[in-house]
Amino acid sequence: MDFERTKIKSIIDEYRGEKGSLIPILNEVQKEIGYLPVEAQEYIGKELNIPLSKIYGVITFYTQFSTVPKGKYVIHACDGTACHVRDSQDVIDKIKEQLNFKEGTNSTEDGLFTLETVSCIGACGLAPVVTINEKVYGKMTPDKIKNVLEEYRGSEKGV
Ligand code: FES
Repeated sequence: MDFERTKIKSIIDEYRGEKGSLIPILNEVQKEIGYLPVEAQEYIGKELNIPLSKIYGVITFYTQFSTVPKGKYVIHACDGTACHVRDSQDVIDKIKEQLNFKEGTNSTEDGLFTLETVSCIGACGLAPVVTINEKVYGKMTPDKIKNVLEEYRGSEKGV
């Protein structure tokens, strides 16, 4: 955590004194260390003189923030209206089946994948839509997403 504290301090110093800096700081810290552990939240709160409860409130309000480590590949599966009416739930169910999450988790044990559902990716014409680390996969079906996930797994094994 000492290494991360140095990074976090330099991020805070960039924004110190600016109004409304909490969200940009949280964004930068998450980008740097991958998530927002409680130690980082406490440190930010102490440095900015903001109660931990307020920081936690912001983190849990915005879906882009995470208090747990995410996988190398973050899958955003859209379940907004346009995607929902084109059977996005079948695609989401297939992702869950393929990635075999442990009960109550949304990340694979090997740290490769994290699944998050979102309400609109802004590509409704391609519904149902999935993104993996910002790469867009449109007109998904259970079979197509199965193949996509197998390609990612294969690339990790050097296949
Ligand atoms: S509702 Fe899925 S991309 Fe808009």
